[in-house]
Amino acid sequence: MFDAKNFVDEAILKLKEEIKGRAIIAVSGGVDSTVAAYLTWKAIGNRLLPVFIDTGLMRKNEDVYVKSIFSRIGMDVKVLNKKDDFLVSLKGVIDPEKKRSVVGERFIRAFEEEAKNFGAEYLVQGTIAPDWIESGGGIRERIKTHHNVGGIPENIKLKIVEPLRDLYKDEVRAVARYIGLPISERQPFPGPGLSVRVIGEVTEERLNTLRDVTEIVESEIEAAAAKGEIQMPWQYFAVLLPIRTTGVHGDKRVYGETVAIRVIDSLDGMSGNYSQLPHSLLEKISIRITNEIPKINRVVYDITNKPPATIEWE
Ligand code: XMP
Repeated sequence: MFDAKNFVDEAILKLKEEIKGRAIIAVSGGVDSTVAAYLTWKAIGNRLLPVFIDTGLMRKNEDVYVKSIFSRIGMDVKVLNKKDDFLVSLKGVIDPEKKRSVVGERFIRAFEEEAKNFGAEYLVQGTIAPDWIESGGGIRERIKTHHNVGGIPENIKLKIVEPLRDLYKDEVRAVARYIGLPISERQPFPGPGLSVRVIGEVTEERLNTLRDVTEIVESEIEAAAAKGEIQMPWQYFAVLLPIRTTGVHGDKRVYGETVAIRVIDSLDGMSGNYSQLPHSLLEKISIRITNEIPKINRVVYDITNKPPATIEWE
């Protein structure tokens, strides 16, 4: 049985030994990076600089949310606005693995710059076991390159520290609950952010569209779970597809955008089933999306399990 208290005590001791100088960590507001940051902060205090890199690929108001979470536990987070850098680097990129490596590379360049200013030699990452397993760690074939693993360029100048490397998500959540972090039950969000949910080229306009859809999906699912109509799923999000289809608004033909809704029940993200949500809830989500975002005229529900599909579409 996993013992969160033991894990925390040992991880802090190990981090004290491993990190001799200053360190930097990128926090995303997710469970993994928040736990990794907290443990490292407990181990080395102000020798740790937590930064939130605003990639322009996050959900709405994430920067405000992340700052507030950390200030509640007494940590100060530096927000770096790198939106333009990420968008420019992603211009014209369609291949999913290329997107992941472009985003990974951009992250690392941003860390290196900030690490230099802070005098940090170490980069702490919230990598957990499924990240490196699915990135082709050990004896397994690569499924996709999780940005905090395979996206790291070989010539990286910082020493990588990964205190959660052997944990699965349910164990990280147990640690977060033990510590009392308010993000323990937050759904996972991929490192490359919405770039892997905008299928095809990532543009500011398409990101904004997807952000609006994501807000609707999240709020409806969370409201239904709060009312006890459904169990909270493992993950619930939207994907913007690169195809247009014919629709009708009033008596006018429209040729609009399509989004897919993906809702997954899982324990660790390694496998999972599509969530059999009530049709009334799916319909409500669909009607809200097409009413509130008129450029979208078709909503589809992904009914594929993992395997054979992965959870994210890219
Ligand atoms: P897949 O799509 O591989 O996703 O079935 C499994 C879980 O991992 C999340 N995911 C990521 N997490 N960096 C992360 O930290 C990444 O690059 C990344 N890609 C996918 C995904 O959301 C799901 O929970």
